[in-house]
Amino acid sequence: MKRRSFIGKAALALVTVTGIVAAISYLRQFFPRLAGEKQRVALGDPQLFPVDTYTFLDEHKLFVYRDHEGIKAVSAICTHLGCILEKSIDGFECPCHGSCYNDAGKVLSGPAPRDLAWYRVSRAADGKIVVDPGTSVPASEKFLSS
Ligand code: FES
Repeated sequence: MKRRSFIGKAALALVTVTGIVAAISYLRQFFPRLAGEKQRVALGDPQLFPVDTYTFLDEHKLFVYRDHEGIKAVSAICTHLGCILEKSIDGFECPCHGSCYNDAGKVLSGPAPRDLAWYRVSRAADGKIVVDPGTSVPASEKFLSS
């Protein structure tokens, strides 16, 4: 194979692979559940969560908040570049680049471009409380557990 022919075929292969990857990435947004990104999270009994406290669930990257009325869940993933947030006195802080959010998940400062996502909390058929990271709700919405 001549050198010029090889370079031409290699360039064509590279363009083809790039096009396929771009097409798959584009189409993937229409099937988030098939991609396995938004699995419902079983929380169990609301009584497991202390009242007036944000509980961090490391494996699900969530903060779960419970008060006397009910329970709600917010993403612990910074909207800037995806670092895991830490709870501060009056909100959430990102240890990576310093974004700050208030208790409602609203951006107060930093490079974060969007507020935090709050997720629907409901009761599953088996009676357990579940969080649906595929369904965003307003920060004021909470599952009334009593
Ligand atoms: S990843 Fe959180 S501020 Fe950059």
